[in-house]
Amino acid sequence: MLQTSRAIIHNFNAGPSILPKEVFEEASRAILDFNNSGLSILEIGHRTPLFQQVMDEARNLAKELMQLDNDHEVLFLHGGASTQFMQVPMNLLNENELVAFTDTGVWAAKAIKEAKLFGHVEIVCSGKENNYTSLPKNFHVPATAKYLHLTTNNTIYGSQWQDLSLFYQFNVPLVADMSSDILSREIDFNKFDLIYAGAQKNAGAAGVNMVVVNKNILGKIARTIPTIMDYRNHIEAGSLLNTPPVFAVYICMLTLRWLKNMGGVAAIEKINNAKAKLFYDTLDILPLFKGRVAKEDRSKMNATFTINDASLEKEFLELCKNEGMIGVKGHRSSGGFRVSMYNALPIESVKALTDLMKEFANNKG
Ligand SMILES: Cc1ncc(COP(=O)(O)O)c(C=O)c1O
Repeated sequence: MLQTSRAIIHNFNAGPSILPKEVFEEASRAILDFNNSGLSILEIGHRTPLFQQVMDEARNLAKELMQLDNDHEVLFLHGGASTQFMQVPMNLLNENELVAFTDTGVWAAKAIKEAKLFGHVEIVCSGKENNYTSLPKNFHVPATAKYLHLTTNNTIYGSQWQDLSLFYQFNVPLVADMSSDILSREIDFNKFDLIYAGAQKNAGAAGVNMVVVNKNILGKIARTIPTIMDYRNHIEAGSLLNTPPVFAVYICMLTLRWLKNMGGVAAIEKINNAKAKLFYDTLDILPLFKGRVAKEDRSKMNATFTINDASLEKEFLELCKNEGMIGVKGHRSSGGFRVSMYNALPIESVKALTDLMKEFANNKG
């Protein structure tokens, strides 16, 4: 058992965020001696069998956990999800073509900005008018759209598309930014032609992107794609086109291994549902606090809320800090509070927070 002096007991950070302690333990051993090789994971060559095994296991676990068919390839790429905002349209969209976007918050807006560099963008729905406190319900997607882009979970505002089958009816290829809810719930991942996620929430450490791509949608555009930006080159090279973020891929592999040992996506979804229920049920019985997002669109990963008496905000945050809870402050663009309940967050942390909220509300009531 790893001995540490960690004073933080409950990590509600939005990302980079909590990872399973088993991952920390295994990774710390690997930094000193990776698989009894006498070498640190930080000094092994990326083209050695030692690392090839890591990459293969990471890829296979991702395929297995997402139950991907043979058309879908898993890539581990540099650059964070923000690079995908640009790499996706560069690979999929011709200059004279149209891409449809759902505008559901900050991250969607950033993806829209980049897509405009490569083709025509139509925003088919937007939550902007109501400050992203709910997700748009009725919208139409033009059949001419090369693809439809959605953000499955909006990390900053705390909303999440609960029923993704809504998007299956449009008959256009689907591209999804799943950075903040990948592998947290059962999804028919094969319905998507391209999925991307910065790993630093549910899938591992910062520094690597998980990309799932249906190889049949590639190679259909006129522009010349720079070598390192072309998904086909990464598929061919097995994500080893250049030096990959070795350690980040390793952490991803360990996190996926942990998830498999937990029983996979279906099992973690049950736990995530229980955590979200505990949190939102508590929130709804305390008049002092108020959820930010419409009930049906509430995120099970990032819960956002405010306090009815703004003068108490600082006091509540201070109390959380004293109780070893971090990451409770809301994002600078939406304010209030945000607690992230990613896969690795134990339900005990949610219990501790909700108990504290109840106590605080009682004292102030
Ligand atoms: C939904 C979503 N998309 C994209 C990003 C950007 O990720 P990165 O910082 O890895 O570029 C984030 C970051 O939190 C996110 O939550």
